[in-house]
Amino acid sequence: MSVAQGRWTGVALDHQIQPASSNPVVLNGQALAVWRGEDGPVRVWEDRCPHRGMRLSFGFVRGNTLRCIYHGWAYGADGQCAEIPAHPALAPPKTICANSYPAETRYGIVWTTLGDGASGPPDLGPDEGWEGVRSLFVAASAEAALTALARFDFGAGATTRMLAGDIVEVSFGPELRMLVVVQAMDDERAALHAAAKGARATEERAALAKRLERLRADIEQA
Ligand code: FES
Repeated sequence: MSVAQGRWTGVALDHQIQPASSNPVVLNGQALAVWRGEDGPVRVWEDRCPHRGMRLSFGFVRGNTLRCIYHGWAYGADGQCAEIPAHPALAPPKTICANSYPAETRYGIVWTTLGDGASGPPDLGPDEGWEGVRSLFVAASAEAALTALARFDFGAGATTRMLAGDIVEVSFGPELRMLVVVQAMDDERAALHAAAKGARATEERAALAKRLERLRADIEQA
């Protein structure tokens, strides 16, 4: 897979992660629960309850707590188990803790890494003004998706350039710019997350989404 284990990668669009929701994501074969409480920030955890391994992306969010759907163990924003319903008088031991990964929202995209996160998400300029366009899921490797993306014809006047190993910028003149981040799910599946910025970003959003649809066909045919 092209995405190095320690690199920050986009795994969702910010607006897709609704408040009080937990969502499944796969990055480099690792199942993740991407969730948001009432306090705002997106959190990325291993998609596995420390109790008996149920997927935490099936769980439900109340306030800033993620509760496993199986036996109802509740985990606070720091990952620590806060409550075991079958033993209400018991203070859960500190050793019971969900495995969490660094997470940050930038450019309308949720970024995470399976590494220690020391480098932070890529710096692509000011964070303001980015709007999520859409995510695409393709039956192809991340390498194949990137190759097709770099060659794709986004239309008259569009120029494409690689910003990092898995990020491509498409410029449609001075008033519209789009970022497309490729997420390796496993060897045969990838996701692409696109966000746009500029004076024409809102009005062009639907048209950009249609072009990305054509890109998906291109990637899968290749
Ligand atoms: S598996 Fe999650 S509470 Fe039991």
